[in-house]
Amino acid sequence: MYPLNRFRRLRQNDSIRQLVQENQLSTNDFIVPLFIVEGENIKEEIPSMPNYFRQSLDHIPAEVNSLWELGLKAVLLFVKVDESQKDNTGKAATNPQGLMQKAIKLIKKTRPEMLVMTDVALDPFSNLGHDGIVENGEIVNDKTVEKLAEMALSHAQAGADFVAPSDMMDGRILAMRSKLEDAGFHHTGIMSYSAKYASAFYGPFRDALDSAPVDVKDVPRDKKTYQMNPANRQEAVTETLADIDEGADIVMVKPGLCYLDIVRDLANHVDVPVAVYQVSGEYAMLKAAAEKGWLNHDEVMLEQLTAIKRAGAKLIATYFAKDAAQLLNSK
Ligand code: PBG
Repeated sequence: MYPLNRFRRLRQNDSIRQLVQENQLSTNDFIVPLFIVEGENIKEEIPSMPNYFRQSLDHIPAEVNSLWELGLKAVLLFVKVDESQKDNTGKAATNPQGLMQKAIKLIKKTRPEMLVMTDVALDPFSNLGHDGIVENGEIVNDKTVEKLAEMALSHAQAGADFVAPSDMMDGRILAMRSKLEDAGFHHTGIMSYSAKYASAFYGPFRDALDSAPVDVKDVPRDKKTYQMNPANRQEAVTETLADIDEGADIVMVKPGLCYLDIVRDLANHVDVPVAVYQVSGEYAMLKAAAEKGWLNHDEVMLEQLTAIKRAGAKLIATYFAKDAAQLLNSK
């Protein structure tokens, strides 16, 4: 009498385990979010994101070089602008001399091979903290889309390789693709946040950019009229397929861990690369638990990233990119 199958044969030592491993993390998987702030000589830790920083432009070349040396090949840019630059229409978002546009140029000059991806949404530039223009208590779609397309074009003109619309307005991918093509930016790619959920996991990010919806009358307090309902699954597939039809080169699920079923659904349904954004709240949770000594930081981090890949992600935007790259390089 013996077991018919002995699965443990393929688990008995490191060598055989590695030989039959189905998914492998590599530095080619990661996109590094960078928070850029106005001013000089600023490198300030974000309180709800331990060991993650807002940095002024003068720190960026060294940062980008160190990422490149670790084998990291893509950054995703976010800017925090002064309150005085914010208004309801996100006017500052398309300023050719704006912080985002300067950052793009600086990174492409420092390290031309580094892929520069840029967040496209109005919230960092909105005095109301919304991704679109607010009129009569509503985030208006088509006017916002026009503005977002201009914003995408201004990023492309500054040298962005990919624009990454995170706003969840309808029709923005088509508007951006058309605008880019008309202006001759045939090579500028679009990474669409196609399945972005109205999630409470974005809290620390909104602290980082000071971009939370404001608490005033006639302004919606949340983003539920444009971001998706966390209870929905089929809708993610439908919306992502629509974004691909409109011209998205890469699609994205956000947040990560709670939404791995969606990642697998998309991986099964679409032919373009699927990205995942492991968001600020996910980062904060692990940092906090590790600080308390309740979880092993490095092991849990790699387990989470591997799980995201196993679910079907080709790319992972993650605040752990640098930590993970260091660990992978040392193995
Ligand atoms: C804004 C944007 C958000 C994130 C990326 N782009 C926040 C939001 O939608 O409120 C969240 C990223 C994170 O939490 O790490 N368009």
